[in-house]
Formats: sequence, C-alpha cells, structure tokens
Amino acid sequence: MIAIDGPAASGKTSTAAEVARRLGATHLDSGALYRGLTRVALDAESRAPERIVVEAERRGLELRREADEIVPYLDGRPAEPVIRGRDVTATVSEVAAMPLIREWVNRRLREAAAWGRLAVLDGRDIGTDVFPDAAVKVFLTATPPARAERRIRQRGQDPSGEAVEREARALAARDAIDSSRTVAPLRRAEDAVLIDTTALGFDEQVERIVALVRERLPE
Ligand code: CDP
Repeated sequence: MIAIDGPAASGKTSTAAEVARRLGATHLDSGALYRGLTRVALDAESRAPERIVVEAERRGLELRREADEIVPYLDGRPAEPVIRGRDVTATVSEVAAMPLIREWVNRRLREAAAWGRLAVLDGRDIGTDVFPDAAVKVFLTATPPARAERRIRQRGQDPSGEAVEREARALAARDAIDSSRTVAPLRRAEDAVLIDTTALGFDEQVERIVALVRERLPE
C-alpha cells in the first residue's frame, strides 16, 4: 500500500494516478467516494448519514474496475462529471466528517485495494487511519496560493489575484474542517515523507515518489 495524503488541491490525485501508472499499480482516489456520497446527500436533501448510505447503495455508488483504472460509478454511469461541481466541493467536508460515512468509504477502499498487487491511495487519512501500515507514506503540501492557482487552472480559468484569494479562502475553509473533525482528521502521519510541491514540477514530484517506492519496495 502506498498512501498519499495532504490538504485540498495539493496535487494528490493527479500525482497518485501517475505514480500508479508508472508502477503498474492500482490507483484509488478516496476523495471521489466522499464526493459521490455528497452528490447523493445533496440530491436527497439529507444530512442524515444512515439515509445517505442507503440512498448511495440504492443508486449503486461503487468502485468498478475498468481497463487499468478503478472508476467511481453512480446510477450506472461514471460518477466523475457529477462529483466535481462547486455544490459538492462546498459540502463534502461536512459529509466526510460523519463517522458512518467514513466507515462506508473505508470498507470500499479496503476491498478495492486488495484487487491488485500494489495500490496507491490518495486522501486525507490513508496513512494515519485507513492503512496505518502502508509501506510508503507521503504527505504532499504546497503553499495556499500555489494550490489555489493550480485549482483555478485545472478549471481552465485564468488565475487573477482576486480569484486566487477567493479560491485560497475556500481551500482553507475545507482544510480547517478536515483537520479539526474528531474522526480521522487530516494530519501528517509521523512516518510520512513530507514533499512540498510549491516549487516542483509535476514530473519531479511523481519521480520523487516513484524513487521512494523503489527504495522501500525493491521487489
Ligand atoms: O481534490 P481535493 O483535494 O480538492 O479533494 P478530494 O481529495 O476530492 O476530497 C474531497 C473531500 O473529501 C476532502 O475535503 C475531505 O473532506 C474528504 N476526504 C476525506 O475526508 N478523507 C479522505 N481520505 C479523502 C477525502
């Protein structure tokens, strides 16, 4: 198990996907499941965890193996298009703070991680709570403006000063909820390698992690 954790928009998901591709490993984006559950909560206009979980199962929220990828599905379709909107992003930390929701996600992650020989998981609590025995743990960070700018560019927009400030505030609000919740808060595991990506290129951060994995798991 390779755990990549860190705050919002630190580049975990894209980095984890590329690390997994280079190592022939399975990639699991735990945030996608929290986002899927949040989509369900918003559609059902409910914040009751029992109701959210029942609705999620009724709508078939699940991870499926598709070619070399593991993809979240909802209503029989890839969930990606409906889990990245602003409404989901603004609510996901509230939903992810509920213990029952976290148990539901962790069960699915543990199941799917066993599908391959090697799995790369990214999230907030993978190295601390979901797989505390992971062979390699990385904590990715970057300064708030760097993270805000990347998120804006990811949406295909121009990062003006004002937009960066607004986005940095939204990221900070989400990090604050994720770090202060009682169950599995966002924090760096003591044995996680800290990588600050503020001044690193994408390839460089991927290579550092791949090198770390090869060093720890030579086989
Ligand atoms: O991509 P980004 O960093 O914006 O977020 P994400 O990985 O898609 O995760 C969305 C939200 O799900 C986070 O802000 C957390 O509230 C929650 N989450 C969590 O609590 N634990 C995880 N392992 C992954 C995500």
